[in-house]
Amino acid sequence: MPLPVVESRVSLRPYNSFGLPALAERLVRIGDEAQLRAVLADPALAAAPRFVLGGGSNIVLTHDLPGLVLKVEIAGRRVVSRSDDEVVVEAGAGENWHDFVAWTLDQGLPGLENLALIPGSVGAAPVQNIGAYGVELKDRFDSLDAIDLQTGRSFTLRGAECRFGYRDSVFKHELANRCLITRVRFVLPQPPVAVLGYLDLERKIAETGVTHPNPRQVFDWICAIRRAKLPDPAIIGNAGSFFKNPVVTPEQCRDIIARDPAIVHYPMADGSFKLAAGWLIDACGWKGKSIGQAGVYEKQALVLVNRGQAIGGEIVTLARAIQESVYGRFGIRLEPEPVVL
Ligand code: EPU
Repeated sequence: MPLPVVESRVSLRPYNSFGLPALAERLVRIGDEAQLRAVLADPALAAAPRFVLGGGSNIVLTHDLPGLVLKVEIAGRRVVSRSDDEVVVEAGAGENWHDFVAWTLDQGLPGLENLALIPGSVGAAPVQNIGAYGVELKDRFDSLDAIDLQTGRSFTLRGAECRFGYRDSVFKHELANRCLITRVRFVLPQPPVAVLGYLDLERKIAETGVTHPNPRQVFDWICAIRRAKLPDPAIIGNAGSFFKNPVVTPEQCRDIIARDPAIVHYPMADGSFKLAAGWLIDACGWKGKSIGQAGVYEKQALVLVNRGQAIGGEIVTLARAIQESVYGRFGIRLEPEPVVL
C-alpha cells in the first residue's frame, strides 16, 4: 500500500467546529485501515507525535498542532445482521454522525433518532459517549474496531470494555491518543422503542397532540428542538455544550437548593443529582456576554461561541471566567466537555 499524501502546514480552521485558527504541521487523510497501517509503518513518520482528528466538533485549538494529524475519513454504512429482536448496523469512523442517523431511518431502522443533529463524526461519538434527549450512545452501542497507533494492530471492543460514562469513555483515559477508531456498530432493538420522556419532547407531544409519534416525527422534533436553542456550527462556531452538567451528592444538592430554590436538578439512578450547568451559568448572568470574540450563546448559556474571529485563547479565557463565577456563587467546579489543545 503506497503512503497516502502527507500535506504540510494545513489550516485546521475548516476542520474544527469552533472555526478557530491553527495549523497542522503535517496532515494525512486516512481513508481505510491499510492507509493507516502504511502511515504507521513509515520510518520517516514514526517519531512524530500523532493527533487523531474526527469531526473536530469537540476540540478547542489554542495553538498549531506539531507532528502528524491523522484526519479520519473512513467511509461506509451497512446493515451487519438482522434478527427478530435486533438489527446491527455499522458505519465507518469518518461518516458524519447526523447523516448516519438519517440513513438508519431511511433504511426503516429507528433507534438513533434522539441523537439527530449532534455535530461530529461516527468515530468521535463513542469517545465522549454522545447523548441527548434521553438516549446515550452506550444505550445503542454494539462494538467498535480500532487500530493501536503504536503497534498497528486491529482490535475490537464491546460496550463494557469501552467503560462508557456520562460524556466519558476509556478513550478519554487509558486509550487517549493510543488508538484510532475505524468502525462503529450499533444495535437497534426490534420492535423499536420510542424514548419520549425528556421535557422538551413532552412539550412537543402536548403542543401537537401526537401522543404516539413515529420515529421520523421524533427525528423531526429533535431537529427542531436543537435548531431552536443550539447554534449551527456552519454559521456560528461552537462545540455544543462547553461544560458537563455537574453531578453532586444529595447533601450538596440540598445545600444548594436551600440557597437557590430555583436550581434545575435531576435525580440520578445512583442517588446523586445532576445540576443543569446552563442554569448555573445563566444565573451568574453570562448569557449573551462576550470576552473579546468569544461569547456565551444567547439562547443556551452552556454553549460558548466564536463571534467571528476568536482565537482558542479567548475561548479558554471566557471559560475560566465562567468557571470562577460559578464556583464563587455556587461552590461548584464546572468541567469542560471539549478537549482543549
Ligand atoms: N437552562 C437555563 N439557562 C440556559 C440553559 C439551560 O436555565 O441558558 C436550563 C433549562 O431551562 C433546562 C436545563 O437548564 O431546564 C437543561 O437545559 P437543556 O435541556 O437545554 O439541556 P442541557 O443539560 O443544557 C444536555 C446536554 C446536551 C443535550 C441536551 C438534551 C450536556 C453537557 N449537555 O444539555 O448535549 O443536547 O442535554 O439532552 O450534558 C452536547 O453535549 O454538546 C450537547 C448539546
